[in-house]
Amino acid sequence: MSQKQHITDVRMAGATGGVHAVHRAGWTAGERGAERGRPAAPGRRTLLRGVFLGGAAVVTGVQITGCSTSPPSGAAPESTERPAATASPGKRVLLAYFSRPGENYYYGGRTNLETGNTEVLARMISERIECDVHRVEAVDPYPDDYEETVARNAREQDSDARPAIANLPSSIGRYDTVLLGSPIWNVAVPMIMSTFTERFDFRGKTVFPFTTYAMSGLGTTERDYAASCPGATIGEGLAVRGEEVEDAGAAAGAWLRRIGLLRE
Ligand SMILES: Cc1cc2nc3c(=O)[nH]c(=O)nc-3n(C[C@H](O)[C@H](O)[C@H](O)COP(=O)(O)O)c2cc1C
Repeated sequence: MSQKQHITDVRMAGATGGVHAVHRAGWTAGERGAERGRPAAPGRRTLLRGVFLGGAAVVTGVQITGCSTSPPSGAAPESTERPAATASPGKRVLLAYFSRPGENYYYGGRTNLETGNTEVLARMISERIECDVHRVEAVDPYPDDYEETVARNAREQDSDARPAIANLPSSIGRYDTVLLGSPIWNVAVPMIMSTFTERFDFRGKTVFPFTTYAMSGLGTTERDYAASCPGATIGEGLAVRGEEVEDAGAAAGAWLRRIGLLRE
């Protein structure tokens, strides 16, 4: 297992996906009319019975402590490659992410996730490379309820808010590479990610975004970070469909190889 300095704890999710152009106004899962009415997978997700009006599937967080990760209860085991000794060669890497457990979108319906999708993906990534991990926590936690979260996010986007973070690191100066993970909210990164990035000097650093999403892929993620991380190089992003995150290990590994953080 890699030697991770844990800054706080982590939540993760993942799967590779394309970037879809989705308009920003009032995104709700239902509006997009999602598609396949697949039953929720047992385990991490618990379907909210009788509620298939479109919404988000919420995941609860996985905690990573120190150099090890604790699987979320009911989380599916990973089936793909392990981190190699050659991981993150010569790089000092921070993985910082935000993820919200609770009610969320799931193939056109809703589900209740014990671990957030982005947290699942963050775990997969952090298990493959040498990196420190920081889970961004809001001072005012986001609701479990999907529609309430959609409404709050709309208010925060409309007002260009910077939701307060409860656990800001004192510095990220020692890192040259920063992996920034989040769900896609109304086609963009949640405003709390801007709270995080604007707090620090990203000049000379390389940022690699990763997202989980329902339909929007990376959305405006690269643009969002280009704006909020002045002086940083924004590298290739990884977008994983939230519903498929538990199968994203291979995609995460391939992405890490492409961006030079994993040699094998
Ligand atoms: C407030 C809110 C807004 C969302 N907006 C979008 C969106 O615009 N496009 C999209 O593809 N998915 C959207 N989703 C779905 C999430 O991006 C997706 O379920 C993600 O995997 C959730 O990650 P998390 O469990 O780590 O929070 C939204 C979800 C919420 C809660």
